[in-house]
Formats: sequence, C-alpha cells, structure tokens
Amino acid sequence: MTLTKLEIFRLRNIEHAAVNPGPHLNLLIGENGSGKTSGLEAIHLLSRARSLRTAHLSQLIQFGETDALVTGVVLSEGRGTRLGVRVSRQHREMHIDGQALLARADLLRTFPVQVIQPSSILLLEGSPRVRRQFLDWGTFHVEHTYLDDWRRFAKALNQRNAVLKCGRPSDIEPWNHEVARYGTIVAEARKRYLDRLTPHLEDTLRAFFGGSAAIVACLPGWKEGRLLLDVLQEDAAEDIRLGYTRSGPHRGDFVVTINGSPAKTYLSRGQTKLLVYALLLAQTSLLAADGCSVCVLIDDLASELDRRNRARLLELLLRRRAQCFITAVHPDDLQCPSAEDTMMFHVEHGRISEGSWNLS
Ligand SMILES: Nc1ncnc2c1ncn2[C@@H]1O[C@H](COP(=O)(O)OP(=O)(O)O)[C@@H](O)[C@H]1O
Ligand SMILES: [Mg+2]
Repeated sequence: MTLTKLEIFRLRNIEHAAVNPGPHLNLLIGENGSGKTSGLEAIHLLSRARSLRTAHLSQLIQFGETDALVTGVVLSEGRGTRLGVRVSRQHREMHIDGQALLARADLLRTFPVQVIQPSSILLLEGSPRVRRQFLDWGTFHVEHTYLDDWRRFAKALNQRNAVLKCGRPSDIEPWNHEVARYGTIVAEARKRYLDRLTPHLEDTLRAFFGGSAAIVACLPGWKEGRLLLDVLQEDAAEDIRLGYTRSGPHRGDFVVTINGSPAKTYLSRGQTKLLVYALLLAQTSLLAADGCSVCVLIDDLASELDRRNRARLLELLLRRRAQCFITAVHPDDLQCPSAEDTMMFHVEHGRISEGSWNLS
C-alpha cells in the first residue's frame, strides 16, 4: 500500500500542508525546528492514531487551536481508501472512507507504518516492555486472531490479579486456567512470529554487518519447558502475597544472539543501532512477504548512521520497493541511488513544498 495523498491541519507548527508523496523514497529536508518530525508524526497519527513522541495526543494540536486533523488516501491493489484522524483536547476520532471507527485495529491494518527514530535504540537497550510491543505489533499483522487472543489473555490476567489482591484464594483456580489458556496461545504466536522473522533478520543484517548469523530466542515469560498452568498453580500462594501474577506472556521478552554472542553485551553502540534498524526492517520485510507492505518512517537518519551505512540502507529500501519518508537537515546527508524513485520535500517554518531533486 502507498500513501498517495496527505493533508495536515493544525498539527504542531504545521498549520496546513498538502502533499502527494511518491511510492518509494520521500525525503523531508529542512532546518532544525522546521517541522520535519511533525510531518512524520502526522503520518504516524494517520496510521496508528498515536503520536510517535508523546503519550499525550493533545500536545499535537497547534498552540491556540482546538483540534488537529490529518487526512490521507492509501492506495492498495488499485483501490484508494480515505483515512482521517482528528485529535481534540478530549477526543480522538478515526475515519475510514467516511465511516467512524471505534477501534484502532482497522486503521493499523489499512495503513501499517514502521518508525525508526533515535529512541528506537530502546528496542535493545530498554525494558522488555519495548520488545513486547515490537512482538505484538508484528504478530498482530501476520496472525489475524492474535489481537482477540491477546485481549482475552489481558482480561483473564486482570481478573486473576483482582482475585490475588482481594478475592478468596479458592476463586483463583478458574483464572489460572483462563490465563494459562490464552497466555500459552499468545506466547506460541509470538514464538512462531520470531521464528519467521529470523531469516528476514539475517538477510537484512547481511546488508549492514556482512554475513551475520542471528538467533532470536523468545522468552515466553515463565520457566521454559513448563506448562503455564502448572506454574500458575504452584505460584498461587506467593502471587497472593505479592498481589500480582509473576508468570505469563506479560513478562515475555526476546534476546538476539549474533555470531554466537549475545548482542546486548557484545555489540558497540553503533552496531546496536544497526541491529535495531535490521530488526525493524526485517519486520517490514516479513510483512511484505505476507502481502502487507509497510510504510517506513525514518527520523534524523544522518545523526543515526554513518555515511556508508546510510547508503546501504537507502539501497536496501529501494530494492524492497517500500514507501519511505526520511528526514534530514541537508540533502547531501542522503545520497540517493536513484533519482526517479526519489521525491524531495522542503520543510520550512511548518510549510511543506515539493522540491527538485538533483543527483549530482
Ligand atoms: N503544539 C505545537 N504548536 C505549535 N508549534 C509546536 C508545537 N509543538 C512543537 N512545536 C514547534 O514545532 C517546531 C517543529 O518541530 P519539529 O517537527 O520537531 O522540527 P524538526 O523535526 O524539523 O527539527 C518546533 O519549533 C517546535 O517548537
Ligand atoms: Mg526532528
């Protein structure tokens, strides 16, 4: 799918912008503070109804205004779908082809975007929660029953925790079964997802590290080799004392091993960044193999990767024919291998205009 039209109203310093992006590389070039990240934030809002930098959506609304609006058209197999997300101080409204949506899932499926930004390093350096979000986003896109199973698990976990805190111990048993049933389904789906991701990760790593063997090991969130139900039953007394459930996919994680060594302890910070890029791009490559093309947003590429790796990355993106939006301060920061596949937009004081692209 390709975002063919994008219109932004009253979002951060962008009062109004209307652009027709290209199907491959779209470069947003402008000084610091011109509105480049805000442009990506608008695309991200249209896809996920969330900001890429704050949990408080109302911060997106331009100072002095009461709402922000982003609309767009996404083309998939020759058919255009109109999307819209409006954020006001109290509300968030989502529309597809004029129909109001109650849940974000439809928006996410219609226009999946992947973001790579300086804080993406948290995928390897941050808490397991960040890695679970990565797993959940990917598994959601390749297994269509995953969201329902995940919700059933979350509901059962809440119920078990409520009983642990103030119910009778004898009430726990039914929730052990529910948590174990859906928790096991969720953990197995994540594991299947990681198993499928690994060859895509190795392919992507080859572009950066050159011939690396990667293993991505899924940690389910309880002692491996044991049944979750047995663990929950054994843990019940201690869980009651603590007031929460210690085992289950809500404690899941994954670890990456490169050429036999754990990435976390063996890679330099620069290499860790490359591995994060590789993981996120492997995710888009796996989804593309399943017929779901993902739009890639990359913020501040030049400050993240050195010149050689930037060139490798742009080549990789062009080879994959993915639609991308990449921000940079100077056009020289991005040596694009193919002029006909590249569109350049100048960003200045919150205005976005199409510019000319000169390869030389
Ligand atoms: N809610 C807002 N209303 C108006 N301007 C804002 C708002 N939030 C941030 N800004 C301003 O928008 C400008 C553009 O920010 P940003 O998109 O991060 O720039 P860039 O990525 O090009 O460096 C900044 O000057 C920032 O202060
Ligand atoms: Mg920025």
